[in-house]
Amino acid sequence: MNRIFSGVQPTGNLHLGNYLGAVRNWVRLQDDYECVFCIVDMHAITLWQEPAALKAHTREVAAAMLAAGVDAKTHILFNQSQNPDHAQLAWIFNCVARIGWLNRMTQFKDKAGKNRENASVGLYAYPNLMSADILAYKATHVPVGEDQKQHLELARDTAQKFNSDYGVEVFPLPEPLILGSATRVMSLRDGTKKMSKSDDSDYSRLNMTDDADTIHLKLRKAKTDPLPLPDSAEGLSGRPEAANLLDIWAALSDGTRETAIARFAGRQFSDFKKELTELAVAVLGPINSEMKRYLAEPAEIDAVLKSGAERARVLSAPVLAEVEDIVGFLRA
Ligand code: AMP
Ligand code: TRP
Repeated sequence: MNRIFSGVQPTGNLHLGNYLGAVRNWVRLQDDYECVFCIVDMHAITLWQEPAALKAHTREVAAAMLAAGVDAKTHILFNQSQNPDHAQLAWIFNCVARIGWLNRMTQFKDKAGKNRENASVGLYAYPNLMSADILAYKATHVPVGEDQKQHLELARDTAQKFNSDYGVEVFPLPEPLILGSATRVMSLRDGTKKMSKSDDSDYSRLNMTDDADTIHLKLRKAKTDPLPLPDSAEGLSGRPEAANLLDIWAALSDGTRETAIARFAGRQFSDFKKELTELAVAVLGPINSEMKRYLAEPAEIDAVLKSGAERARVLSAPVLAEVEDIVGFLRA
């Protein structure tokens, strides 16, 4: 069976964009792939993290994934730092990947900003750790968004260079898995901006931890325009908020923008928002309460992650042993 590896950063404030753009897609992959889902705390510290917040966010992401339907018994869910094989393989890849390759990474340039001299070495080497995440499991497929495609290319280049430098065929070249219609959820306050955890206004997003009353309130306050909803896609041009709310309805109902337009053509926003709220509460409500249940039992989450890490290591240890032997590390 093909194996998926996917990583998610332990950042707080998981919102509808994270759910529709990432978490929900992973849940669906479980039917067709053997999945290794990893909360990448080691990647997170390439930028400063408050230690207590890092732990809390790790648990929050785990809770969200479990609540959304990740099956941590059949598949694997763990936090990266609990399997030291990632760091071990990353060091070997630090010695395989070339500085010139890393210099081309646009995410480093974005995240390091103007003061590059002051960025952590980890931020620069980040893509090598990501290659190690994937290749420590010989994963064949990696679900990635646009922003991570360049890193996956680098993982493929690294796998290939390792194979050719040592004259072996250890690593498969992992394939990107571009999932369905990429849902790009926009802010509820400004339909031209991405829904984001870093937006100052909490009214700009539906959080995965919002209860029914909060969902209700935020959607009621969501920005609209004075016109009724259009009867064709062309009618959405210049109406980013209308387009976004229809797209959210479409994603939550597993439909398309077209089915949403057909359903709400000519109706008023007030009317549409009522249905959208009902749908959002129906989909997010159960996830929200399950997530809260997990967060009230941190020991339960920790046990899931520990067991996941142990099972992850069962998969990565033989790969590491094989790689270390190829490289020439002596083992008695
Ligand atoms: P981030 O929180 O930005 O690190 O993103 C984590 C995951 O959620 C990534 O896979 C993103 O592609 C996805 N994501 C974040 N924001 C959105 C959004 N507004 N719409 C769709 N997907 C998103
Ligand atoms: N770099 C990814 C991000 O910022 C997270 C990540 C780490 C990842 N390791 C991975 C994604 C391996 C896919 C595969 O979103």
